[in-house]
Amino acid sequence: MLNELTLTGESLRELEESFKKFENLTFFEIENEKKLLTEIINVTPYVFNLIEEELKTKKDYLILRKFGKNLSTLVSLVYFLSRGKIFHIPRLNNAFIAIFEMKNSNELSHTLKDGFFHTDYSTHPYTPDYLTLNIVRRDPMYPFYSRNSIVLLNDIIDFLKLYNRDLLKYLTSTDVPIKVNDKIVYQKIINLEDNVIRFHEKLIKDALIITNRENEVYYIDEFVTICTSLMKDFVLDEGDLAIISNKTVLHKRGPATVKFDNIEKKFIGRKVYSIRFYK
Ligand SMILES: [Fe+2]
Repeated sequence: MLNELTLTGESLRELEESFKKFENLTFFEIENEKKLLTEIINVTPYVFNLIEEELKTKKDYLILRKFGKNLSTLVSLVYFLSRGKIFHIPRLNNAFIAIFEMKNSNELSHTLKDGFFHTDYSTHPYTPDYLTLNIVRRDPMYPFYSRNSIVLLNDIIDFLKLYNRDLLKYLTSTDVPIKVNDKIVYQKIINLEDNVIRFHEKLIKDALIITNRENEVYYIDEFVTICTSLMKDFVLDEGDLAIISNKTVLHKRGPATVKFDNIEKKFIGRKVYSIRFYK
């Protein structure tokens, strides 16, 4: 069973109506953030409270079906849930919306590779608590491609306590290197006290090789195999929104496809708006 909420009836109508209220808000003037937050809270549709209540009980993740694909509504919801504490992305000049668009790969292969299990911005001094994925254009081969996978930290810990205490010890007590741009940062993958996981399969493996700790790659491979056996898999349609904890959940994207659009004369694939925030 997945934590899902399908917006229907009155809630859906209210959400659709709310577009008009949000349209006139300007999100990009950071100096006006407080005023903006007050305005959003003033016009908050009931459905935002409903979503917040759901997220209180389903802290790890929540899939909202039929949320829509209006950027103003997404930003307003994230402003509301975070009370204005949105994560600004350092590498994108402190913008807060990341737009992921699948493009054709160099070898023109129409299937793009599987992603890696990870958490976002794990080495940042203030790692964001949540990320949102709002699908604005679905994969050309939906629902078979661009699927999402998540693994819950609680499931990982339960499994390791029962079957692999050595690996649990490695994950909770070893300072593991991770590559961040040209630097190496050391941190524990699982912090049991705070109930937080920080992980990036590729960046950790790269760093283990650079620091001559190849023998530990074995632990990472073993961990990824376990994650794969514990993962929950789902697919998001156009207009769906997933809100995923970045502290207690690992996430990755499955293989994606792109197709050549004869009208636009370019390769087109899935397009996602993503905003990360603090809660
Ligand atoms: Fe991510």
